Amino acid sequence: MNAIDWEAKGKERLAEEFNKVCVSFPVFTKEAKPLGIGGFGIVIEHNDQTLTKILFKPGKEWGNYADKAFKNESDVMRLFTDNPLNGLNHPLLIDEPNVMENDEKYLGHYRMTHLEGHIISLHAPPNKVEPSILKRAHKSAGRMIAKFHREARKLPFEKLKQPPGHDGDEIKQISTLPAKTNEALAKANIYFQANKKEGIVHGDFHDGNILFDDDQEAVGLIDFSNTGRHKNIFVDLADMNEDYDEDFIQAYEDESGETIDRHMITATKLTLSTNYLYKLEISHGDGQEDMEKDLRKSIEKDLRNISTITGYHP
Ligand SMILES: Nc1ncnc2c1ncn2[C@@H]1O[C@H](COP(=O)(O)OP(=O)(O)OP(=O)(O)O)[C@@H](O)[C@H]1O
Ligand SMILES: [Mg+2]
Repeated sequence: MNAIDWEAKGKERLAEEFNKVCVSFPVFTKEAKPLGIGGFGIVIEHNDQTLTKILFKPGKEWGNYADKAFKNESDVMRLFTDNPLNGLNHPLLIDEPNVMENDEKYLGHYRMTHLEGHIISLHAPPNKVEPSILKRAHKSAGRMIAKFHREARKLPFEKLKQPPGHDGDEIKQISTLPAKTNEALAKANIYFQANKKEGIVHGDFHDGNILFDDDQEAVGLIDFSNTGRHKNIFVDLADMNEDYDEDFIQAYEDESGETIDRHMITATKLTLSTNYLYKLEISHGDGQEDMEKDLRKSIEKDLRNISTITGYHP
């Protein structure tokens, strides 16, 4: 079987969505070009180089998640525009975000400044992106998120809400997993609950939301739909390429002067993987067997990694 070419698929989706956006927004797409696309939005570039992010209305299965995320993102962008974070490049709002009530396809849009830099796929297999590049990028990303945590702490706390995507504060047991695995998950959860740390998180800190320069220096941070208060600040440290976790975490420690409990990173990964597996199992969707299998494998691996806590030796 041929490997899926995600880059080509991404470009195809960007072009497709841009065409649709041009039909819905002929006035402001005039002389604009497509720039990037994520799970919930497309970003277009105007000829004065400012950008507009247009948010899609996702299917009913998402409930009102996307509306909440857009509301949160608009509020956070306003806050960051009024109180720019020291030493970090993030986009600034131009005008106020626009909510589109009663539109079938779109939730809203907002205009912002354009940041320099490009995305590096940190999870790419080593034959696609060189290890030395991945190493430098992870170190720089570690310093960036440490700065973000430090600067976000200085903001008026009451202006930040609990973000809508919020799976990172419990390790779940799953009825279809072996009893021994669930016992280990329960022990991991006790450790997790005793050591989690509250704070302001970016909430979606992964390689699609970091812009790098040509020396793999992280120079821009974007996408604040899940930024806000969180019971578990480690969610921002749990979505890098595992092979480079040590580079990432050490750089975080150097920048912040804090010591990070590695077990808590693994425990946080377990909050994400067990909640995700739980959701997949109750939704009984077709074609998700491979994903469930991968999640089971990663749960096993993480439990083994913290066997001093879980006593897990399968
Ligand atoms: N201010 C910016 N400067 C430069 N590029 C940007 C900027 N904002 C977004 N982009 C580009 O557009 C892409 C999608 O933007 P973004 O990550 O904000 O949307 P998204 O992932 O759909 O958001 P969400 O996670 O809310 O669904 C990014 O990966 C990036 O390539
Ligand atoms: Mg994004």
